Amino acid sequence: MELVLFLRIMNKVKIGNVEINYPLILAPMAGITNLSYRKMMKELGCPLTVSEMVSDFALHYGNKETIKMIDTSEIDHPLSIQLFGGSKESLLNGAKVLFKLGGFDILDINLGCPVNKVVKEKAGSSWLKEERKEELYEAIKSLVDISPVPVTCKIRLGWDENSINVVSTCKTLEKAGVKMIAIHARTRSMMYSGDPKYEYIKLAKEAVKIPIFANGDINSIEKVKEILEYTKCDGVMIGRGALGNPILIKQIVEMFSCLPISKDSTLSQRVDFMIIHFNYLMELKGEFKAISEMRGLSTHYLKGFNGMKKFKLKLISMKSKEEFYQIAMEIKNYN
Ligand SMILES: Cc1cc2nc3c(=O)[nH]c(=O)nc-3n(C[C@H](O)[C@H](O)[C@H](O)COP(=O)(O)O)c2cc1C
Repeated sequence: MELVLFLRIMNKVKIGNVEINYPLILAPMAGITNLSYRKMMKELGCPLTVSEMVSDFALHYGNKETIKMIDTSEIDHPLSIQLFGGSKESLLNGAKVLFKLGGFDILDINLGCPVNKVVKEKAGSSWLKEERKEELYEAIKSLVDISPVPVTCKIRLGWDENSINVVSTCKTLEKAGVKMIAIHARTRSMMYSGDPKYEYIKLAKEAVKIPIFANGDINSIEKVKEILEYTKCDGVMIGRGALGNPILIKQIVEMFSCLPISKDSTLSQRVDFMIIHFNYLMELKGEFKAISEMRGLSTHYLKGFNGMKKFKLKLISMKSKEEFYQIAMEIKNYN
């Protein structure tokens, strides 16, 4: 392993008073990073996971489904809960509900979600608009002032390519008392495609003292090394790269621990992960919801293998856990 990388990983990353053993975070993903998925990732050694984004408004009004979204368990720590909202007042209201419920170690604020429904409410990446800088500072500072846990933020490079302001956003957030920033190396207008512009993460890292985590298309061990070396940032945040391919998280942890690296999963091992995920999902949400969610999630586990179309078709129309296990066995026996 290269010396620079080795020296960096010898130091644990501190996010306020929360110390993580390796510079790796599982990215928040709505509809995915609930307790079931986080539990599987923790068992593979992931040092820190982030919940799905939860709405400040829904928390304030006691929405039961939203409160269920912050279900956690012993293995799930340290845990970061991600909150989204469009104004200082509503974020504070939502955060107060979270603090009362407790059971998490970090509060993360979503300043990067690009979807219309969210930015229309002035939440997510709407906060990155230059004209909202002061409002952003006030909102985050107020959250930091009342938070019993470290506050972190997840951002993008800016609203669009003509308004990339990631360096000044990071400075503003650092001044407001944020303890770590994860940067998705795209603008809001890029949504989820187009080449990530990691050069801006490098600039942001040079501009602030708090830990910076790089995010966006980091989907292999080689990419982890390349991004850490190039940007000099403190760690990486991984989302889609491990979706359907959880072994990537284990491989990255092994790389950081200087251990022999596990082989890529075979199709049969991918199916084993899918079954674990499904079982945890059933524990969390019951059979009906687990089946309904696994119809969509299962395709990720079969990605990249030939001859899967017929199984995908069966999985998207399955109706019971027995049917799920039957299809899973058929895939495992397929060659
Ligand atoms: C299905 C899906 C749901 C997501 N939900 C969230 C979310 O709730 N909060 C958030 O900050 N980012 C969310 N993201 C963005 C990811 O956290 C991450 O920034 C993005 O996917 C880029 O990283 P990746 O290439 O490693 O996936 C989501 C992404 C996907 C694909």
